Amino acid sequence: MQIIDGKALGQKIEKNVASQTAELKTQTGRTPGLAVVLVGSDPASQAYVGMKKKACDRAGFYSITHEMPEDISQEAIENTITMMNDNPNIDGILIQLPLPKQIDTTKLLELVAPNKDVDGFHPFNVGRLATGLDGFVPCTPLGVMEMFKEYDIDVKGKNAVVVGASNIVGKPMAALLLNAEATVEVCHIYTDDLKKHTLNADILLVGVGVINLIKEDMVKEGAIVIDIGINRADSGKLVGDVDYDNVAPKTSYITPVPGGVGPMTIAMLLQNTLTAAQIHAKEA
Ligand code: GUN
Repeated sequence: MQIIDGKALGQKIEKNVASQTAELKTQTGRTPGLAVVLVGSDPASQAYVGMKKKACDRAGFYSITHEMPEDISQEAIENTITMMNDNPNIDGILIQLPLPKQIDTTKLLELVAPNKDVDGFHPFNVGRLATGLDGFVPCTPLGVMEMFKEYDIDVKGKNAVVVGASNIVGKPMAALLLNAEATVEVCHIYTDDLKKHTLNADILLVGVGVINLIKEDMVKEGAIVIDIGINRADSGKLVGDVDYDNVAPKTSYITPVPGGVGPMTIAMLLQNTLTAAQIHAKEA
């Protein structure tokens, strides 16, 4: 069993982004800029945005966070996004999800300029991913594919089972695996007999948000297990969706929580923002 070290790989990618950022600045005078929209005071969202901002600082990016109260109007957020779309110093726009109930999230995601959509949530980029074309790809599943690359894991022809069908994780994860020629199955809350499906997995990827959803008897011997869940246990500890201690000995590779997929999400956000800045520098 080998532990996939997302922290080390994330740091390696961040270093590479920082050096390419310095190069971009020298050659074009352009500094990558990321604008984050944070609505309300959900502690998890605040923590994620804080980590993203620190990562931008480490990479040498310009970043700005638009913090808005929980009861903000749809129109006020739309105005901010339009402003960021028009601001030449901004290369990437990230709307931290989830948003309060009164807000139409889809409408906001569709308002983000596709060439600043570093989260890859705009239907334009979703469609390009589904078709196997270049575009911005959601950071978390993109980070998982980077892990496979780093550890020489070839997904082609393997049975990949994705548990969770969210727009942020499960669906783009399935699209990336399919584009990489894996045989892909997607399970979700209405899936009957989850274990029957997970036992087929050469590669099992889980992003649901349920502590200990995946137990030892649900995993095939020698499987690769990617835990995309992040939950706060009663003890206060961060844990994933996989019963790690009991599942890990059965696997060939496994990602820990924390220190697995999480740091990769941030690294890929930096990578996507740098890519956006490089494209915008060429267009200028
Ligand atoms: N909320 C949970 N994960 C994400 C993410 O990757 N991007 C954004 N914008 N919001 C999130």
